[in-house]
Amino acid sequence: MQTVSYQQNLASQTQPYKLEDWQGANCSLNQEFDYWIEDIEGEIPTNLNGTLFRNGPGLLDIFGREIHHPFDGDGMICAVSFSNGRAHFRNRFVRTEGYCAEQKAGRMLYRGVFGTEKPGGLLANAFDLRKKNVANTNIIYWGDKLLALWEASHPYRLDPDTLETLGIETLDGVLHKDSPFAAHPMIDPGDENREPRLVTFAIKPGLITTIAVYELNQAGKVVQQHDHRIPGFAFIHDFAITPNYCLFFQNPVSFNPLPYVLGLRGAAECIRFHKRSPTKIWLIPRDCSQKVQVLETDPCFVFHHANAFEQGDELIVDSVCYETFPGIDHNLNYQEIDFDTRPPAQLWRFHLNLRTKTAQRNLVVERSCEFPFIHPNRIGQPHRCIFLAAAHQPQGDAPQQAIIKVDPEFGEQQFWSAAPKGFLGEPVFVPRSNSTQDDDGWVLTLVYDAAHNRTDVVILDGTCLEKGAIARLHLKHHIPYGLHGSFIKEKMKYEE
Ligand code: CO
Repeated sequence: MQTVSYQQNLASQTQPYKLEDWQGANCSLNQEFDYWIEDIEGEIPTNLNGTLFRNGPGLLDIFGREIHHPFDGDGMICAVSFSNGRAHFRNRFVRTEGYCAEQKAGRMLYRGVFGTEKPGGLLANAFDLRKKNVANTNIIYWGDKLLALWEASHPYRLDPDTLETLGIETLDGVLHKDSPFAAHPMIDPGDENREPRLVTFAIKPGLITTIAVYELNQAGKVVQQHDHRIPGFAFIHDFAITPNYCLFFQNPVSFNPLPYVLGLRGAAECIRFHKRSPTKIWLIPRDCSQKVQVLETDPCFVFHHANAFEQGDELIVDSVCYETFPGIDHNLNYQEIDFDTRPPAQLWRFHLNLRTKTAQRNLVVERSCEFPFIHPNRIGQPHRCIFLAAAHQPQGDAPQQAIIKVDPEFGEQQFWSAAPKGFLGEPVFVPRSNSTQDDDGWVLTLVYDAAHNRTDVVILDGTCLEKGAIARLHLKHHIPYGLHGSFIKEKMKYEE
């Protein structure tokens, strides 16, 4: 099969990017498109069939007024449908209450959790504690429902064929308007004795934090629900599951609401990391048959986990850790970020011993990396392969320009880079049908190409990243850097 070389080789000691190139994708995509992708280098595998959904902020300004951080941007869904060697692109904004109100008003009406201030100064922002649900973090398809997720509020349901917003999703009344609902559901593939389930959670933070766990059957009905109260404030973005446990990492952070209430800071800017306090790991039995356990480990901050599994007396979990909370300086424009001053995100393996109640951790990947993704059949089971978005340079923090393949027992195994002009996001792994190996499939990622100010959909071979892109599909426009996505085997409807 033909392969596509991305860019020239780079000496690893040179700065592999220019900040102004990275900045190029940080502007709004206002238009909504529908088209067949015609400008393609390489060939789309004819046995890659289905739809890649990807969520992320689509607007970086509201009618010319810049938002303070991309995480405050209105969610925009991209859908790339692959069918017999061809691919179709579609993008639609999630018609949230906030998006619709602002588009109708023609101006910014809301503060943002990540520091966006609406016009009118302190008087307008103080004591305005309404949350704007931007529905921008993840998109999943389960029980015949396509859901756009944002962890501090309810999901929005979309039509998978058109991406039209259908409204607020309550899961048959289990959730209410503004109920928190995590943006990181896990699909437990099940086995001969257990049906597949979607397992997810919700965090209600406070002086005592409530973790609610939900399990949905294949019809999308909530069949298990339990609440747990843990001491202290908790900022928990993701979790991990095994057949018997849910694992939650409680980062050692506190929250001072005063600057938020007074309109001086976004809520997420009021989080403080405590470098001398342990990170707590809560182990919640999925069937509630045993007591909840808590272990402690070295202080670290975790957004994302790759996977967890059970082995003898141990639970093993692979997680991306920062030395400290990679916070946001309110007085700094995010476009001027100095990556060199930020803590790198590194992959660690934790051994959690249920008998001795101890946690031990080992560094797996030193290179700064994020957005771990594994074969969907391995969730909760032992895995031999993790794909991550990573920095081109081996040390320090930097924008993500590379994809790495990691064997969690042996470290980084393969590396593919889009540097110096390419900047990318989450690698979504799509297994070949009947695949038996953890890497037997394709890795799909969106790469912003600063040389052409446009975004490519890049297809890599999971078994061999180093042979380069199998295909680069040039879109007609850029897409702002996104967050999470998923792949379904069904294709969408579109005009032939
Ligand atoms: Co996430």
